[in-house]
Amino acid sequence: MKVAIASDHGGIRIREEIKKLMDEMGIEYTDFGCECETSVDYPDYALPVAQKVASGEFDRGILICGTGIGMSIAANKVKGIRCALVHDVFSAKATREHNDSNILAMGERVIGPGLAREIAKVWLTTSFEGGRHEKRIQKISAYENEQ
Ligand code: RB5
Repeated sequence: MKVAIASDHGGIRIREEIKKLMDEMGIEYTDFGCECETSVDYPDYALPVAQKVASGEFDRGILICGTGIGMSIAANKVKGIRCALVHDVFSAKATREHNDSNILAMGERVIGPGLAREIAKVWLTTSFEGGRHEKRIQKISAYENEQ
């Protein structure tokens, strides 16, 4: 699995924690920034990561900002992206099993690095259940294709 990860200035510490986790898990990833502690704009990081996942260049994406909200809104504008904003372990599992989410968004001003790590671990290791959930995702794809 290849993961694209990025954050704005509000998510740097959790991004570093998740990179450490992926190193430990032997998961291949590329860090798309941001590089600095100065204020940046989350769409400049969410959209490239979302495009790389939508194109198939990367299998999954992880985006962190202050709340996770801006990142998830921006990523979900990209066709084919199912970005889930998650701040609990139950939802991390459910969004993989039911929604086949391909991007995980989290907010560093909402949760700490320990919980973010547990969420990412579950999200990275849980498979899509398919079955009845498949047709629901297809309905979203059909809507996207009509636009
Ligand atoms: C940046 O101040 C903050 O707005 C951003 O990190 C994020 O929370 C936006 O949704």
